Amino acid sequence: MGIASNIHPLWYFTVFRDPPVHGYKNGGMLLYHSDFRTTLSFNNMNLNILTDKRILLGITGGIAAYKSAELVRRLREQGAQVRVVMTSAATEFITPLTLQVVSGQRVHTELLDSEAEAAMGHIELARWAEVILIAPATADFLAKLAYGHANDLLSTICLATVAPIIVAPAMNRQMWQAKSTQANYMRLQNWGIHCLGPAAGLQACGETGVGRMLEPMELVNGLINLFKPGPLAGVKVLITAGPTREDIDPVRFISNRSSGKMGYAVAVAAQAAGAAVTLVSGPVSLTAPVGVPVISVYNAQDMFEAVMAQVDEMDIFIAAAAVADYRPVQLATHKLKKQESQLQLMLERTPDILAAVAALPQPPFTVGFAAETNNLLDYARDKLQRKKLDMIATNQVGITGLGFDSDENALSVCWVDGSVELPRNSKLSLAYQLIEIITQRYQRRAKF
Ligand SMILES: Cc1cc2nc3c(=O)[nH]c(=O)nc-3n(C[C@H](O)[C@H](O)[C@H](O)COP(=O)(O)O)c2cc1C
Repeated sequence: MGIASNIHPLWYFTVFRDPPVHGYKNGGMLLYHSDFRTTLSFNNMNLNILTDKRILLGITGGIAAYKSAELVRRLREQGAQVRVVMTSAATEFITPLTLQVVSGQRVHTELLDSEAEAAMGHIELARWAEVILIAPATADFLAKLAYGHANDLLSTICLATVAPIIVAPAMNRQMWQAKSTQANYMRLQNWGIHCLGPAAGLQACGETGVGRMLEPMELVNGLINLFKPGPLAGVKVLITAGPTREDIDPVRFISNRSSGKMGYAVAVAAQAAGAAVTLVSGPVSLTAPVGVPVISVYNAQDMFEAVMAQVDEMDIFIAAAAVADYRPVQLATHKLKKQESQLQLMLERTPDILAAVAALPQPPFTVGFAAETNNLLDYARDKLQRKKLDMIATNQVGITGLGFDSDENALSVCWVDGSVELPRNSKLSLAYQLIEIITQRYQRRAKF
């Protein structure tokens, strides 16, 4: 089993004990909003990962360019040096003057401009950058990058640099789904160009779907993660997420309301902590974090097999999927016809993935999830002991706006000799808090 060896000894001390600048107090423990967590921890110890990093921010012509000014401010708050290069289309969405003011530096827009070239030319900018972040990255610019165009300043710099390039795509969901965009995106990823986002949600065009640029602070955290060895660096984490589907006949199945959001959020947080994450996912409409391999499965048996094939390699197993407990004994080969007033289905148990993992001779650090409508802690403790888990996170379902298919949740987390309540928050914030607790307990167990 791997042990995170490069964790800074004060990391948790800082997270849990520092004054709550952006945090709030709950039962004696300070909880931080995930957006601020890394910043606070490292700022307070003068260990800011982005301090003095030379970041070249490329802005292309998408509506999300309006967020670029805030992004520059956030990067500078982290101590980064930021220089901005804009495409001609980008200048239609936000003025170079705004970016000049927030960056405190001249903004570069022209390739064929002898004056600009004399001041700081494209090759110098390419050499200056320690990292190039393109946010927003239009469909057009992804295509340029994917085919090595160099017909404007930003694309020329991208060709001329040895610095890592990170793109934050932002576009209408249809543009994002277009085969050409997806092919370009795959091409870039295969070349090692990092991608942050896009996220799903309401778009400027009024449609809902995948294509939104990540929020400035999420981009900042993404950059930090690229530079920092997290507390779970070197640790392999297997996470299950989403529902399973148990077929009744070729068109019907038994499933549940799990959206996979909690499991995917845990994957984001574990990856942000430096872990090598693998997701085993039931059918969901979510995009996995960049760099996280996803094994897509359909039913509980598939999920069981996928997990058991991977788990020997893993240090931590987090079972966030809502696996069906029962499946039809028989799968009808043809669509069941309407019958009398009642139809009886005979169901049988599906394999218990969590119990099977925890019962291995050398199990990984095993974390279960439970969804209960009442007596949360009692059921959680029972499941913890019965299945010999290291930890269990229980959420209360049946409350509007919490749990299944919502963006928020509240968790009761318990282990053999302790527990903590994580009050209502976004699933991503809860995932960050949960990963912090898991990391602590995992490292404690690894010591003994
Ligand atoms: C109002 C408006 C909004 C746009 N928003 C986006 C966008 O969010 N993402 C995108 O890929 N293209 C968007 N476009 C299209 C780009 O601006 C266009 O492809 C342009 O050529 C991009 O140039 P660049 O990649 O050199 O910056 C938008 C165009 C208009 C008119």
